[in-house]
Amino acid sequence: MTAFTLLLFAALAQAQIAYHEPYRPQFHFSPKQNWTNDPNGPVYFEGEYHLFFQYNPFGDQWGHMSWGHAVSPDLLHWKELPVALPEENGVMIFTGSTVIDQSNSSGFCRGAKPCMVAIYTGHTPKTNTKPALQTQNLAFSNDRGRTWTKYAKNPVLNLNMSDFRDPDVFWSEQGKRWIMAVSLPDEHQVRFYGSADLKNWERLSEFGPEGSTTGQWECPNLVQLPVDGNPRNTRWVLKVGLNPGGIQGGSGEQYFIGRFDGTRFVNDNAAAVSLWSDYGKDCYCALTFNGLPASRKPVVVGWMSNWQYARNLPTHPWRGQMTAPRELGLTTFPDGIRLVQSPIASINALHDKRIVWNAKGVEIPSQVFTLTAAVELGQSKEAGWKLLERDGSYTKVGYDAARQELFVDRSHSGVVEFSKDFPGRTAAPLPHASGPLQIQILVDRNSVEVFAGGGRAALTNLVFPGPDAFHAEFYSDGTAKPSNVQIWTLRSVW
Ligand code: FRU
Repeated sequence: MTAFTLLLFAALAQAQIAYHEPYRPQFHFSPKQNWTNDPNGPVYFEGEYHLFFQYNPFGDQWGHMSWGHAVSPDLLHWKELPVALPEENGVMIFTGSTVIDQSNSSGFCRGAKPCMVAIYTGHTPKTNTKPALQTQNLAFSNDRGRTWTKYAKNPVLNLNMSDFRDPDVFWSEQGKRWIMAVSLPDEHQVRFYGSADLKNWERLSEFGPEGSTTGQWECPNLVQLPVDGNPRNTRWVLKVGLNPGGIQGGSGEQYFIGRFDGTRFVNDNAAAVSLWSDYGKDCYCALTFNGLPASRKPVVVGWMSNWQYARNLPTHPWRGQMTAPRELGLTTFPDGIRLVQSPIASINALHDKRIVWNAKGVEIPSQVFTLTAAVELGQSKEAGWKLLERDGSYTKVGYDAARQELFVDRSHSGVVEFSKDFPGRTAAPLPHASGPLQIQILVDRNSVEVFAGGGRAALTNLVFPGPDAFHAEFYSDGTAKPSNVQIWTLRSVW
């Protein structure tokens, strides 16, 4: 072997293999390179899940916003496709939705086949002489999302406003028409429109201000869910993003439970009540998939980051990623009906090695794993896990019995100094009287997602542990004990 080939081999060995760079999530979607924020237009069509996403094709900071695109047979194994909707003529492509036009109501579909229609916000940045402009626009595809044409008569909705965005569109059986929920961010309102053809929109009603009204309202999402699994007793959940003004600071999401009659959304709870869909810092602009078979529970995916520090995350060559897909439901608790969520069960199909639990703690030879357990609290005031631990660094996932809350503490989780808003503890209220507390934890190198209390408490947080932080142990200030601990490392989807 010549010195040259040796050098070449060394260089190759050092080059980072795509999707296996430090911190690269192994079962969450992240773009191969560059910046992403919100998921856009998630839709299921002809056996494929489509995920579009806010994307900068030219760099790893926000800008030139376009719709990136990826497809998957199972919501886990993603294939990134070319940009679906690029910024054009100075108009950025902001968040929106995709629908399947089954009956060619739009006139965009060729032959007798359904086509895909994207409804997005066109954002024209402000100049020295003009304020910004946000309008609602259409694009369509007749080849399963591989190529897209922007509608020649865009925009379809223009209020001449600088902030008017993030249309969530779906087919309403009640009114036999398309419904759009779109945000008036500074008014803290979601406005509803109806349309027969996706092109002409009639103003129907407004919801808000209600709940929390700090910051701007963004990314509305309206979905109908059965209560306690009963399809004859449903409610509508209207979720809105707040930035800033999230419960943990920066961006976060609240939801309202109520009735939607095809025209108007009415909140079941008092206007002052704020309910939060995720109590971590890193779940924003979550959207449900359109086009799912009726037998499937609604599935939601969010952006796993926070506007407070999204631009500073220590990842390369990508920046931004999605949460695990979660199934949604509503459950009746003593204090009322609440949103419940659980990660899609097919994550279990990625199980690789089972790690046998040991009360003294274990080494998990991977930072990609799931941990489920029941925790019997006994007289303990606090108990839980220290995960991704090494040399004084760890992420705590625990339950505080005095405060009745589930928490994740990433103060000492590894690399935290890139933003003053990153380190800290986030907690979700979780009343728990007695008996074992069921808990499910997903760890994927740079994230920890926790679900407990039948999915009522969800906490999504990024973490940046050292590469060899493999230790996991249980701690408590009393007699608490975990039982039925199941730890599985997961195979990479890449
Ligand atoms: C939310 C958001 C949306 C907007 C998009 C722009 O994160 O601000 O309201 O459409 O990001 O990238």
